[in-house]
Amino acid sequence: MNTKIFEISPEQIDRSAIEEAAEILRSGGLVAFPTETVYGLGGNATDENAAAKIYAAKGRPSDNPLIVHIASPEDAERYAVTNEVYYRLAKAFMPGPLTIILPKKDTIPSTVTGGLDTVALRCPSHPIARALIEAAGVGIAAPSANRSGSPSPSLGEHVIRDLDGRIDAIIDGGSCEIGLESTIISLDGSTATLLRPGAITSDALLCVCNEVKIAPAVTEMLSENERPLSPGMKYRHYAPSAPLVLLDGDPDAVLSFLYRAQNAERCGILCYHDEVDLLRNERLIDIGERDDLAAQAHALFAALRKADDFDCDIIYAHLPKKDGMGLALYNRLIRAAAHTVLSV
Ligand code: TXA
Ligand code: MG
Repeated sequence: MNTKIFEISPEQIDRSAIEEAAEILRSGGLVAFPTETVYGLGGNATDENAAAKIYAAKGRPSDNPLIVHIASPEDAERYAVTNEVYYRLAKAFMPGPLTIILPKKDTIPSTVTGGLDTVALRCPSHPIARALIEAAGVGIAAPSANRSGSPSPSLGEHVIRDLDGRIDAIIDGGSCEIGLESTIISLDGSTATLLRPGAITSDALLCVCNEVKIAPAVTEMLSENERPLSPGMKYRHYAPSAPLVLLDGDPDAVLSFLYRAQNAERCGILCYHDEVDLLRNERLIDIGERDDLAAQAHALFAALRKADDFDCDIIYAHLPKKDGMGLALYNRLIRAAAHTVLSV
């Protein structure tokens, strides 16, 4: 398949390119597009064949449901049974990086939800995503636009590397601001359960919800027979080809461990900015300032892709703290490391 690449600037949106991409979606094709979190691989959410094409292009198991992207929070009415808490959350956080699970309506085929009777809804804030959904005039089902087994794409070139030749079109809109996927919650009255942590933190959700529970799979390994609250939790997450080990300890202890390690073994290191000049290894990746969690989130998936290009036997990274935005970093890294943590 010949994949059409549109280069569109988020600051100056080319309406005719958006219209062309929207027409591809309306006629059953697939278009990858940038959002503020990561790139999505979009298809018409009301078309069961589009969902099948998405699963095939990604190489994704078809029981792992897709998020339906909408142009405005009220569009949820077309696809789901809403409630008062949904609208309070929408007022606080939409458009933005929050996905809410609600009971689904029949307009959404069960292929989109992997057979579940709920649907995940998200109203993205990225101007290209918004323009595309509006122009398509229908909800867009979109998982992250990576091949299964790669990290989510935070740059157009990641999508091109993974999906060129497999889908109808890719909109390259540059770098995604947040770089990690949206926060996903389910609701029970005004209690939220956090299924995937993201830029909307549990503290932020507490401004609207009475209580925020954290699903065990966010931080812990699922046991063999456990049924996860979100099907995506059970799938093996992206892991670099060299084993990734997370280091837990105070900053000096971690630094001296890394000094010794880089002399003893061929290691890649995802390090903080202040460590770059101290370590001086050719396989270092600077993931940002120590306290700048947003910068680290933005850098993480590109860093994991880059680490895969190194010829090394082991990769080290810092174990993130679990508070605020740190929980999202912790969740992605602990899974990429298959829960391997070394206390130093
Ligand atoms: O930021 C994002 O959320 C990105 C952009 C493109 O919007 N999308 C994304 O989609 O990360 P995906 O498919 O890679 O991850 C969606 C996760 C999966 O783990 C899936 O299992 C879960 O959401 N999910 C979807 N529908 C669900 C439902 N009805 N109940 C529980 N979990 C659901
Ligand atoms: Mg994904």
